[in-house]
Amino acid sequence: MKKNGLIIAIDGPAAVGKSTMGKLIARELGFLYIDTGAIYRAITWKVLKNNINIKDEDKISSMVSDTYINIERTNSKSLNDYYHIFVDGGDVTEEIRNPRIDQNVSQIARLPKIRKQLIYLQRKLAEKGNIVMEGRDIGSVILPQADIKFYFTASEEERIKRRYRELIDKGYSINYEVVKKQIMQRDKIDSKRKYAPLIKAKDAILIDSTEKSIEEVKDKILNIIKKIRECRKKQIENNII
Ligand code: CDP
Repeated sequence: MKKNGLIIAIDGPAAVGKSTMGKLIARELGFLYIDTGAIYRAITWKVLKNNINIKDEDKISSMVSDTYINIERTNSKSLNDYYHIFVDGGDVTEEIRNPRIDQNVSQIARLPKIRKQLIYLQRKLAEKGNIVMEGRDIGSVILPQADIKFYFTASEEERIKRRYRELIDKGYSINYEVVKKQIMQRDKIDSKRKYAPLIKAKDAILIDSTEKSIEEVKDKILNIIKKIRECRKKQIENNII
């Protein structure tokens, strides 16, 4: 275990349940939880709000330099209201979940300049350790030194169904086929981009949540974390590392 606390990285495709699990684990362990997807969504929100062309890398990059993003944990017990994210002081927590953001976010997240700019922010947020950070490139690029890495998968059908339900429950009137198209398109762009694609880090533990309950997956993950922590503790005690 590193001197400054444990770092847990979670990566995986769209709507695979990373956020739910990340929050549950962080809450259970008393760790900080950082959803890096929310940061890309927040940038996308501002790009769209300012009518900037999503292909104009230089303009988006200079916008990002002038943007202040911060994330604050709430006191709420509800996982749906776990944290709020602010862009230049304004709360965008709800707005970044709009399907319009889903439609555009991956095209902005694929731009190397923007990703490079956000590396610093993400690493800074993880600095103190005792953190669960989730995204697409956390175990591979942002925090390759993470103590424990998980890579989540679930069948495409299940992921689409989950996201569709989520959006309907939030009150969006959206078609199942549109959700399907958006998820598949995002996964394609995210995994095919040249710079920092969605990838399973070599040392990541694969978690398949298809047809498994949230409790089941949570218990499995907490068990793995417990075992790894015990093992590290023993190694430190015996001066192995
Ligand atoms: O919640 P969901 O799985 O739908 O996506 P998200 O985690 O909110 O991420 C939204 C989008 O941000 C992804 O589709 C990626 O394009 C981008 N993203 C990324 O490129 N790198 C990350 N570390 C996190 C998100």
